Amino acid sequence: MQKFTFYSPTKIFFGKNQIGYLSTQVQKYGQKVLMTYGGGSIKKNGIYEAVMEELEDEFEVFELGGIEPNPKIESVRQGVEICRREKIDVIVAVGGGSVMDASKAIAAGYYYEADPWDLVTGKARIRKALPLLTVVTINATGSEMNGNAVISNPKMQEKLGFFSELVYPKASFLDPTYLYSLPTIQTAAGTADTMSHVFENYFKEEKAPIQDGLAEAILRTVIHYTPIAIQDPNNQEARSNLMWASTMALNNMTEVGKPGPWSCHAMEHELSAFYDITHGVGLAILTPRWMERVLDEKSLEKFVDYGMNVWGIDKDKEPWAIAEESIKKTFDFFKSIGIPMTLGQLGIGEERVKEMAKCAYAHGSFNKTYRSLTEKDIENIYRACL
Ligand code: NZQ
Ligand code: ZN
Repeated sequence: MQKFTFYSPTKIFFGKNQIGYLSTQVQKYGQKVLMTYGGGSIKKNGIYEAVMEELEDEFEVFELGGIEPNPKIESVRQGVEICRREKIDVIVAVGGGSVMDASKAIAAGYYYEADPWDLVTGKARIRKALPLLTVVTINATGSEMNGNAVISNPKMQEKLGFFSELVYPKASFLDPTYLYSLPTIQTAAGTADTMSHVFENYFKEEKAPIQDGLAEAILRTVIHYTPIAIQDPNNQEARSNLMWASTMALNNMTEVGKPGPWSCHAMEHELSAFYDITHGVGLAILTPRWMERVLDEKSLEKFVDYGMNVWGIDKDKEPWAIAEESIKKTFDFFKSIGIPMTLGQLGIGEERVKEMAKCAYAHGSFNKTYRSLTEKDIENIYRACL
């Protein structure tokens, strides 16, 4: 295990009706609130009313709706403009990773005089940010308890991430009943994203049984509960465990001591930059193909652990058989929860594969990943997904 610094400043309010503490948390930061949200799901499932009930009497609330999946820099610019015009004190993001990430960029962009895209690319450093609270409506990214944000710039055809300690949410509200209205494909995609966050840290060489044991527990949990939530969307036990799993998968707990760049995310971000697809769907398609590419003598032991501890594969089988079966089980699981498992099913052909591989290789650092990948390897992984 390598040296690390662990910092996790977000206060979590988990459970049904915990939204009742929202106003006391917002009060700490001021009177003028920007409430951000997505394309309108919160107006259909009662979450908008629940948040407003907490906020409207005590605060002056301004709204920025319409934040799109794979949030665009234009929404961030709009948000910064509202914050400046109305002298906003605090942001309350109500939604999934897209709304939370755009809100993080708005929070930082408020204190940066030029275009907020500079903060995403790293051209300028984030020096200050407005306080942010989140109300989570989909279990997927873990953005509610981390300092990451991923923003798209369609004009540049780029989707890039940034990290800053300054944009960690001050508090996040996780009510599993808010997940009841999720469409099946979003439930499935959220699980794929959760699993991928775990995989990206788990498949590394450092020996870290605490982090890896937690990773395996998260994987077993989502594998068990996702089919239940799909069959019975209002199952509170399933939704609760899925919700906490996604938060735990990307709040640094499985990552500490095991640093290093991620492969599948770097490849997926190009897919969604080029084709605006759902992040978790792209990851599910890529993951088993990436696993096939990185399974070798050196990584075998890790795949055997994964196969036995996560999928319960018989330990008396040959190591290679266990490893290969674990990859097949991963593929079959994603398929069983309704994810289209080829890019062709999303209408994506081979036309831009080379270009995507080039961009992924340029934006990522594949020579430092678990098994280093060349640009040609990346191209072949995309091709295997077609
Ligand atoms: O926009 P609305 O109408 O709200 O609908 C959303 C959206 O269409 C819908 N939805 C959300 N909650 C719902 C609901 N529909 C019904 N009932 C509910 N309760 O779900 C759709 C997807 O929402 P989105 O926020 O895009 O999903 P997700 O949380 O998966 O976020 C994906 C974004 O986060 C980035 C991804 O790249 C992508 O841009 N990521 C952010 C990370 C982070 N900040 O740490 C890490 C991740 O690896 C990821 O890259
Ligand atoms: Zn992800």
